[in-house]
Amino acid sequence: MKERIVSGMRSTGKLHLGHYLGVIQNWVKLQNEYDSYFFVADWHALTTKYDKTENLRQDVKDVVIDWLACGINPEISTIYVQSLVPETAELNIYLSMVTPQNWVERDPTLKDMAKILRTKEGANSEVSYGLMGYPVLMSSDIMLFNASAVPVGIDQVAHIEITRDIARRFNNIYKTQFFNEPKPLLNNCSLICGLDGNKMGKSFKNDIKISDSEEETAKKVMTAITDRSRMRKDDPGHPDECEVAFKYWKIFADESTVQNVRCECEKGLRGCADCKKQLGALINEKFAPIREKRKYYESNPAEVEKIIKEGSEKACIQAQKNLKQIKEIIGMY
Ligand code: TRP
Repeated sequence: MKERIVSGMRSTGKLHLGHYLGVIQNWVKLQNEYDSYFFVADWHALTTKYDKTENLRQDVKDVVIDWLACGINPEISTIYVQSLVPETAELNIYLSMVTPQNWVERDPTLKDMAKILRTKEGANSEVSYGLMGYPVLMSSDIMLFNASAVPVGIDQVAHIEITRDIARRFNNIYKTQFFNEPKPLLNNCSLICGLDGNKMGKSFKNDIKISDSEEETAKKVMTAITDRSRMRKDDPGHPDECEVAFKYWKIFADESTVQNVRCECEKGLRGCADCKKQLGALINEKFAPIREKRKYYESNPAEVEKIIKEGSEKACIQAQKNLKQIKEIIGMY
C-alpha cells in the first residue's frame, strides 16, 4: 500500500509561479509515488475573506484549472473541494476539543496573518474565532485521511507542527495509535521572489500568474528589479547584486546559459533591458505547454466540474470510513 499525502491551497484566485515552483511541481512528481489528495481550501479562504465571497466559486475553479494545467492528474490523484467533504468540519469539532488554546495562539504563521488583518480597514479587521481555528482546521484536513506526509511550501511548516502535536495528543488522550504524525515534505527548489524582490504574492502585485498571457508576462518581467547600482547598459554589472532578474535566470535557465548571462553581464555586454527581454521569452517558453493546457480546461468547464464532483465524492467515501473509526475511538454515540 502506498503512503498517503494530503495537501491544499486556499482559493484566493489564479495561482502564480511561486505556487507552481514551490508546491505544484512537487505534487506533480509525488502523485506517482503516493496516494495523493489535493484539495481547494475554500473554508480556509473564508477565514479572511468571509465578507468577499462574490468570486469564491470562480476562485475554486481557477485553482483546479491551474492544477490540471500544471499536470495534476485526476486519474491518479484525488482532487476535491474542502467544503464538499463536510466530514472535515466534523473532525474539526473533535480536534478543537483536544487542542489547547495556547497552541493556536502561538502559531507564528497565524500571528502574521492576524497582524496583516489588523492593518486593514472595515469590518473584517478583527481576528475571528474561525481564523484562530485555522491550524486546527488544517489538521482536520490532514488527519481526516490520516496522511503520513504533507507536501507544502516552507511557510506552512509551523501549522503542520501543530498538526503533529494534535495527532500525538489525540493518540495519548484516547490511548490509541490511530493517527500518524504527519511530516511536512518540502521540495528542494529555491523560493522565487516577486518582481520587486519581496515574497511573491497576489496581494503584493508582484507576481506572474500561471495564466498570464505571453504579453503580460513579458511586460511584467521588464519591471523586475536588477542591479540598482548600474547606471548605463555597458557598465559592468553585478549579477549577485541583481535583485530579481539574475535570480530568475538561475531558476529557469540551464547551468551553461546562467554562466553565459553572468559573463556578459559582468563584462557590460548585456544591458538590463535586453537581459529581461530574453528572460521573459524564456519564461514564456517554459510555461507555453502549461498555458495551452490551461486554455483547454478553461474552454471545457463541464469537464472541470466533473473532475471536482467525482474527486470530492471519492474523498467523501474515504473520509466517512476514517471518521467512523475516529468517532468509535473517542466513544461517540
Ligand atoms: N494553509 C494552506 C495555504 O495557505 C492551505 C491548506 C489548508 C493546507 N489546509 C491544508 C495545506 C492542509 C496543506 C494541508 O496554502
